[in-house]
Amino acid sequence: MTAPRAPRAPRAPRAPRAPRAIVFDAYGTLFDLASALPAAPTSEIPNPAALARLWREKQLQYTWLRSLAGQYVDFDQVTEHALDHALAALRLNPEAQSRARLLAAMCALTPYPEVSVVLLKLRAARMATAILSNGTPATLARLLGNAGLGQAFDHVLSADSVRAFKTDPSVYTLATATFAVPPGDLVFVSSNAWDAQAAAAFGFRVFWCNRAVMPAENLPGLPAHEAPTLESLPGWVAGLA
Ligand code: LAC
Repeated sequence: MTAPRAPRAPRAPRAPRAPRAIVFDAYGTLFDLASALPAAPTSEIPNPAALARLWREKQLQYTWLRSLAGQYVDFDQVTEHALDHALAALRLNPEAQSRARLLAAMCALTPYPEVSVVLLKLRAARMATAILSNGTPATLARLLGNAGLGQAFDHVLSADSVRAFKTDPSVYTLATATFAVPPGDLVFVSSNAWDAQAAAAFGFRVFWCNRAVMPAENLPGLPAHEAPTLESLPGWVAGLA
């Protein structure tokens, strides 16, 4: 008779390591979507804030609905479709030139005021950085170029390369594949609660930049840290094991 096998000792949890890189969401996290508002004349768009809010809401809804239905089109097209719906819903009918200006403004958004200093501090600490966004590679390149941030990131990763949108895990996998590390070795930064929480559920250590001071979503995933701007990010990262 063989002796019963001794129960295997539980494996000790892996000690947390210093993060290998900081991965940023783009829209609303690094770039201020409200900076697109003055692009159309107020005679044509009397309430630009209402348009901006609905445009963004529809843009995100369309990414999720297209992902669910397996009907991918790229983020530039989603953005255009969302704008046209928002204009129709608000009974707005701007000149073709104004519509074009609104779309062009999406490629020339202003970064939030703390962004360049935060990136410089991370670079000084020799921390690798990346963008991981639904945006297309061409639009992200224009956005970064227009903001003078063309050389600010080590990698610019676009969901377009997997023809899916956040929160599809294949998008988050782009970051782990690029740095060839498990998700726990990356810090992910997003201002969108749904993105921050999905990224935390994926396994990233998440800094939720809660700019709009919103409650958490009732969805899986717990960000490791929450702050109203990116200012405290370099200090927080430096304190991680
Ligand atoms: C992005 C959107 C979700 O940059 O903010 O991916």
